[in-house]
This record gives sequence, structure tokens and C-alpha cells, in this order.
Amino acid sequence: MELVDRVHQVLKDNDCGSWTRPASGLYPHQWLWDSCFIAIGLSHVDWPRACQEILSLKEGQWKNGMIPHIRFSEDQTLDYFPDWRWWQTEGVSGRNAKTTGITQPPIIADAVLRVYENAPPRNEGIKFLEKTYSFIKKFHYWIKEKRDPLDTGLFFTCHPDETGLDNLPVWDKILNSIPQEKISPSVAELADKKLETDHYVSKDQRPNREFYLRNYYLIEKYREWDYDLKKIFNHSPFVVYDCLMNTVWSKSNNALAKIAGLLGEKEDERMFVNWANQTKEAMNEKLWDEENGLYFDLDIREDRLIKTKSFVSLLPLYANIPSKKQAKSLVEEHLLNKNEFYAPHPIPTTPPTEKSFDPINYWRGPVWINVNWFIIEGLRNYGFNEEAETLKQKTISLIENAGFREYFNPNTGEGLGGKDFSWSAALAIDLIRT
Ligand code: GLC
Repeated sequence: MELVDRVHQVLKDNDCGSWTRPASGLYPHQWLWDSCFIAIGLSHVDWPRACQEILSLKEGQWKNGMIPHIRFSEDQTLDYFPDWRWWQTEGVSGRNAKTTGITQPPIIADAVLRVYENAPPRNEGIKFLEKTYSFIKKFHYWIKEKRDPLDTGLFFTCHPDETGLDNLPVWDKILNSIPQEKISPSVAELADKKLETDHYVSKDQRPNREFYLRNYYLIEKYREWDYDLKKIFNHSPFVVYDCLMNTVWSKSNNALAKIAGLLGEKEDERMFVNWANQTKEAMNEKLWDEENGLYFDLDIREDRLIKTKSFVSLLPLYANIPSKKQAKSLVEEHLLNKNEFYAPHPIPTTPPTEKSFDPINYWRGPVWINVNWFIIEGLRNYGFNEEAETLKQKTISLIENAGFREYFNPNTGEGLGGKDFSWSAALAIDLIRT
């Protein structure tokens, strides 16, 4: 079977009606950014289904505008722990949907614009934009108001799972600063049960107990505070301006501005362009580190950059945030550096120069297809076309050799984590077609 047909088969196998699960067994519910990547892939092979994937995200949207990171399936027999009951969001979401209480990278407007651009007849595309515009606009208003309370242009994140990069070593110091004594017996029990039920993938490729303890500790607090973002911003130990979240936020504001323009909403268009630029300027002012020639996340509580290197340091290339000079440093000094990000199978999520580097554990070293997809576009943005083409070929061969795995060992190319992972398939087709 041709690669494109195999991709389509994976997406069909994971199709749950109007939305697609990331992987069978391991991830049986709907995740926000997964559905966005999946829609981008589907728009090449089944355009109406791509539109449906995006529109299904509206089903989980909270009354205040937040689109949650997971919308749980109604199927109560699914083996996923912890389930929707643990989040206790029913009283605060204003919706019947079963969801978590945090969000994920706001890539939806960017995805919608890409789906629109692949519309077979353009007037169908405009109809799709009309159906999506108001709920995405509401989501952006919520982010601007609640996630940028000081109007700095930067979006604050309050949980590692929000970034989609769960156990990225960047968060280690903050998470480990939560003392063991603060962790309740019910959170400890939950972490143990998670480890017990997390049986689809071998343990050495998954987060450890220490990680789950802190992860659930934060959620327990947020539940107590009814997910009130003012309390979270003022009191949570985990408040970060993250490079990935903010890159995606800026990119999506530019995308939403284009969508507004296509719909004749000129005032909105100007406003979203302003928001995108405000984020760009703030990232260059607050997240750029001249000494290393890299962007870093900012720990808001400590008001300092977290100088742990990971691919998020390079990600602003994706949204045209760096100047040409900054981009040259990111690409030539770091990305193409064989001792850092240019592993035998690029791009590792963290470079081997970091003590925390682990080539097989989740976000602590392995290659992920969405990371390469972001960086390939970032390279093209700055005219590094040959480098983008080489990385694209390497990414496709990784999949051809190891299958649509969730992640890959950057030293050997071995496939790791879940099998037939939807976004690996969806983004492979986008890479082949663009
Ligand atoms: C893992 C990933 C996250 C993804 C989810 C579903 O939690 O870290 O980014 O959205 O799985 O695939």
C-alpha cells in the first residue's frame, strides 16, 4: 500500500464518528491539539471529515470559551485512567460535556485556515469558515482575558499537560519544588493507579511516579479553586510563559486575522493582527536569551528564564517570531549542531547535552512527528529550504521504517510509545503533499 493510503487507513481505524482518537487503547478520547493535527491531515484525503473533526471540538467548549484539553467519550467501558469524574468540571464548565479543566496549545485557528486552503471548491471553504469563526473567536477572547491577565502579550500556562509536552525536562525544577509532604494520600493513590493501569507501553518509555504525583497535585488544587484562573495565576507553583504555547498563540492570531478578513470582519482582522504582534514583541523581549542565542520558557513565580534546552527553544521559527539574525543562530548554532539537535534521527525533544536526556522516554528525548512538522515550516519561513527538505525526507523515512508510532528514538530510529498514532499519520500526509 502507498504511504498515503496507509495514513488514511490509520485515520479510519481511529475514527470515532465525528472525532478521531489519538490511538486505540492508550488514548481513547478526544484531545484538542490532536484533533487539529488530524483535521490538517484529513483535509488532503477526506475534506468533509476534516471539517467535522474541527466542528466536533465545539461540543466540549465551556460556556466561558475555553476549549478543554480532553473531551471524554460517552463510552463508559473505555479503559483510561483517571476518567472524567476525577476532574469535577460539571459544575464549572456550564456544559453537559465530560471534560478536563485545562486547555491545550491553541492551534485550532491555524488548523482551520489550512483546512480552508485545501477546500475542493472555495465557496465550500467559506461556508466552513462561517461555521467555525464565532466559537474560535470566543476561545481567543477567553485566552486573551484569562490567560494574559496583565496584558503582556504572553499566554500563561498552568499545567505541563496543557502544553501537550507533559514530562518535558523544562518543568522538572518547578515540579520538584512541590514538597512531598504537600501531596495528599488520595493523589498518591491516584498516581499509583495510573502507573498500574498505564499498561499499553513499556514503563521505561512513560512518565514516572514523581511526575504523576505533581501533575495530579496541581489538578487537585485547581479543582479546590473551581478552576478560577485568578487564583491559579496568583497562587499556583506552576505558572509559566511557555515558548510553544506562545508561538502557537501568535501564529493562530495571525490565522484568525486572515479568516476574519476573508469573512469581511475588518475590525476583528486588525485586532487579531495586533494580538499576534504583541505576542511576537513580548517573546523577543522576555523569552529570548542573547547569551545562548535561544528562546526559553519563563517561570513567572520566580521571574526567571528556565535555561533547560529543548525543541521549544527553536519553535518560534514556526510563527516568524525571530529576526533573521536570531533565526540564523537558532538554525546554524543549535538545530544543525550534531552535538545538540541534529541527532542521527533529528529532532530530539531535548538534546543529549542535557543531563535529563533520555532517548526512549516520552518528551525527554524522543523525536515526535509534530515537532518536526513545526520546525520544517519554521525553516521554510526563513529560506532554509534545503534544510527543510532534508528534514522532511528524514521524517518520512522514520515513519516508513518504524510505522506510525507515537515517538521515535533519535539515536536509532526505533519506534516507541503508542502504535498507529493518528497525528503521526495525519502530519505525514501533510508533509508529503506540501
Ligand atoms: C500525550 C501527549 C499529548 C497528546 C496526548 C494524546 O498526553 O503528551 O500531547 O495530546 O497524549 O495524544
